[in-house]
Amino acid sequence: MSKQMSHLDNIPSTPGKFKMDKSPYIHNWLRWHSSLAKLTFWSFMFLGLILIFFFRSPSSNPLPQDPSRRSLRTYNWGGPAWEKRVRSSARIRSRNGISVLVTGAAGFVGTHVSATLKRRGDGVLGLDNFNDYYDPSLKRARQALLERSGVFIVEGDINDSALLRKLFEVVAFTHVMHLAAQAGVRYAMENPGSYVHSNIAGFVNLLEVCKSANPQPAIVWASSSSVYGLNTKVPFSERDRTDQPASLYAATKKAGEEIAHTYNHIYGLSLTGLRFFTVYGPWGRPDMAYFFFTRDILKGKSISIFEAANQGTVARDFTYIDDIVKGCLAALDTAEKSTGSGGKKKGPAQLRVFNLGSTSPVPVSDLVSILERLLKVNAKRNIMKLPRNGDVRFTHANISLAQRELGYKPSTDLQTGLKKFVRWYLSYYSGGKKAAG
Ligand SMILES: NC(=O)c1ccc[n+]([C@@H]2O[C@H](COP(=O)([O-])OP(=O)(O)OC[C@H]3O[C@@H](n4cnc5c(N)ncnc54)[C@H](O)[C@@H]3O)[C@@H](O)[C@H]2O)c1
Repeated sequence: MSKQMSHLDNIPSTPGKFKMDKSPYIHNWLRWHSSLAKLTFWSFMFLGLILIFFFRSPSSNPLPQDPSRRSLRTYNWGGPAWEKRVRSSARIRSRNGISVLVTGAAGFVGTHVSATLKRRGDGVLGLDNFNDYYDPSLKRARQALLERSGVFIVEGDINDSALLRKLFEVVAFTHVMHLAAQAGVRYAMENPGSYVHSNIAGFVNLLEVCKSANPQPAIVWASSSSVYGLNTKVPFSERDRTDQPASLYAATKKAGEEIAHTYNHIYGLSLTGLRFFTVYGPWGRPDMAYFFFTRDILKGKSISIFEAANQGTVARDFTYIDDIVKGCLAALDTAEKSTGSGGKKKGPAQLRVFNLGSTSPVPVSDLVSILERLLKVNAKRNIMKLPRNGDVRFTHANISLAQRELGYKPSTDLQTGLKKFVRWYLSYYSGGKKAAG
């Protein structure tokens, strides 16, 4: 009983307080025990600090590998010299010229559109985050090309509201040509977050800043032929259904079209969506078939050519970059002003969607034959079943609406366009430049 009592005596009367025992053995044991507890406590603290330092240290992870986390990157912008460059790049140099913020300017289409606008005397400022979805050195080379013609590309993300607001503070852009996006159909299975980050969150962020700008700019932006998804009615017309996307990429572009409708409806933003059909040409994208077929044919590597069920042909409405640029400029030139100001709509505003294609789908196997002739190398063809990873069997544009409203008239056939691409490819990748990808 007394043993029981002494045991009970060791239970603290108040939490956290221990009654000290007079016995020297227990006293020493308690001292030892408390030193061990302290040692353990400080060891954990020390370990915790090391872990915090490791995970927060910028040098341990300078560039997030997951593009959906690229917004975590910080960019250098601001200051008088930077503002001067921004102003000078966006300065209009022709009568009736426009000042355009081109997002995705270091991209394939963005570079061509920016250069053409600048050439005709418009003010152009680029914006691009230079992500590594494909070889960033190609984006840097495009940037150098634009710099030589007086176009400055601000390095930053369309999700950065502070940066976008600053740009609109420095320049009263009349137009935005929005081309920044996570492109590519198959990559969506690998990194879905990057599509949400750029094509949905980034687009909304851009529209938020545009709606509050004074004056509000008119916006022309790149949707995609992929919105037609599993549609089987040909040729694809703007009136056809677009509610069966076959990839997450397509779904984010379709979401963009609905988001555009909302900002037009609520805030009076003038919005024009352009559904591009498989754009190709010099300075193109290394993730697209015509580009990596060229690379692999030259390397003697076999290329996979997809075939639909029952030996069905896989075909694309390939559209040459110069035709797409003409369509983009015509969309900018015919865009009406936004009607809102200070975030409030003042009247109905223009809302448009156009197909920009070439109206002549070509089987992918014919594309390969043209490349073989131009490269003077026989391709090692590996015929495979079309995998279910987002690609559709064919695309075919009805362009009568763009013809009527934009005066759009594509004029480059695949043979001529590929000849120009191959010439560029051979000169770009010769002279020490390593093959892309
Ligand atoms: N090329 C085609 O065949 C094709 C077809 C249909 C639609 N499109 C659309 O046209 C537009 C241009 O395509 P492209 O072929 O030039 O692609 P691209 O990848 O070469 O260009 C897109 C550019 O946007 C930049 N970017 C991406 N996310 C960004 C972000 N969050 N912030 C800032 N910059 C960002 C990229 O670094 C890249 O330079 C895209 O919207 C694409 O979806 C292209």
